[in-house]
Amino acid sequence: MLELGFTKAERLLKGDKAGQRVKTRGWIYRTRHKGKMVFTVIRDSSGIIQATLFRGDMEDENEFEDAKKALVESSVEVEGILVKEPRAPGGYEIQVRRFRIVNFADVFPITKDQSEEFLRDNRHLWLRSRRMTAIMKIRSTVTGAIHEFFRNRGYYEFTPPILQPTQCEGGATLFEVKYFDMKTYLSQTWQLYAEAAIFSLEKIYDVAPTFRAEKSRTPRHLCEFWMAEMEAAWMELEECTEVAKEEVGFIIKKVLEKNRKELELLGRDTKVLEEMIKKDFPTITYTEALKILKERSGMEVEWGKDLRTIEESELMKHFDTPVVVTHYPKEVMAFYKPIDKEADAPGPVAKCFDMLAPEGYGEIIGGSERDTSIEEMKKYLEKDGEDPKNYEFYFDTRRYGSVPHSGYGLGVERVVAWISGIDNVKDAIPFPRTPSRIRP
Ligand code: 4AD
Ligand code: MG
Repeated sequence: MLELGFTKAERLLKGDKAGQRVKTRGWIYRTRHKGKMVFTVIRDSSGIIQATLFRGDMEDENEFEDAKKALVESSVEVEGILVKEPRAPGGYEIQVRRFRIVNFADVFPITKDQSEEFLRDNRHLWLRSRRMTAIMKIRSTVTGAIHEFFRNRGYYEFTPPILQPTQCEGGATLFEVKYFDMKTYLSQTWQLYAEAAIFSLEKIYDVAPTFRAEKSRTPRHLCEFWMAEMEAAWMELEECTEVAKEEVGFIIKKVLEKNRKELELLGRDTKVLEEMIKKDFPTITYTEALKILKERSGMEVEWGKDLRTIEESELMKHFDTPVVVTHYPKEVMAFYKPIDKEADAPGPVAKCFDMLAPEGYGEIIGGSERDTSIEEMKKYLEKDGEDPKNYEFYFDTRRYGSVPHSGYGLGVERVVAWISGIDNVKDAIPFPRTPSRIRP
């Protein structure tokens, strides 16, 4: 692509322009000077390249003086001869002839060894770090892969409303919004609207902002996150879990294809990911999961209790791929998950599933077949203290040509954190929102 003659750092490091006069532009990543020399490293979106100034080689001596003064993060256009230099990062450097400062930066507040909280307070600046840049590139690959995966399979992108009048995933985590003289809520999921849309488009997906007033401060919960959801008519539980497995395999494959450099920078063991996608991801039931916990971990979980983070992590110690866990007890599941009357279990279980990631990352996907019985759903809504009248539009979807259908939601930040091998979802989103943070 023509970029007014400017060449990106990554492109320069290929080396085929060695010996030529080249131009690049970016921000000063490191700088020091000594006598008649200034040693800089220039950063752009593609990487970093060393640029060395020797006073006697400069076409404009004022630019040498500017370079000496310019602090880290000053923006700059650089012109010079590209030469091989084994001591430089990437093996090449620019021997500078022109060095035009576009903006002299103030003293940059971020230096080495600052706390994670300080870096989050300064996220608007920390975004420039190589670490955040790498994570954001991986995130871009992940969401791009999701679009590609579903479009390749004939799914339509469908856009739900973000302001919604009801809950779907429990009233306790709703964010209330003042809406003129009424109140409404921020979307917890697209699901109720997606279920209306499958009667026309049949197979749909989205990647959308999602909001939950989660009071739990964990490395896995955000108040604003992105969920990639799918919903399909005529689809039953088992097929739905297969789509989820394929989607996750496809995402990993794409990241391995496109983001080797970023994974390496983050210290991610890519072998683990490569081996993982060669294997089938197993499916077990909740009841089998409890058995594994008891027999192989000596951990007793009372049948009927939802799996908590510690049980999920313990269970996943026995697996090196993602695992689909189906048929959780109906009592702890959302109102729309139907009871599986044929299941062999100690109590009523739902046609639902979670996908758990290995390496301690836990739940990345939640999904289910959808109940088609209005009466059943009303019963469970009332149990949750909801007024079924508010769900009349949703019940209409069961009144006019109801079909079996299923769907699931994948937590984008959890998947990005896991694939990147980072330990907190707060770093998998550019500007995290948590109970104690809505800035910057
Ligand atoms: O399991 P959940 O609550 O499922 C649903 O919302 C369904 N309505 C989806 C559907 O069937 N269409 O959420 C789905 C996923 C979780 O597995 C998790 O990865 C992510 O969304 N998630 C969160 N990620 C970050 N912070 C939070 N507070 C999250 N809550 C859920
Ligand atoms: Mg869930």
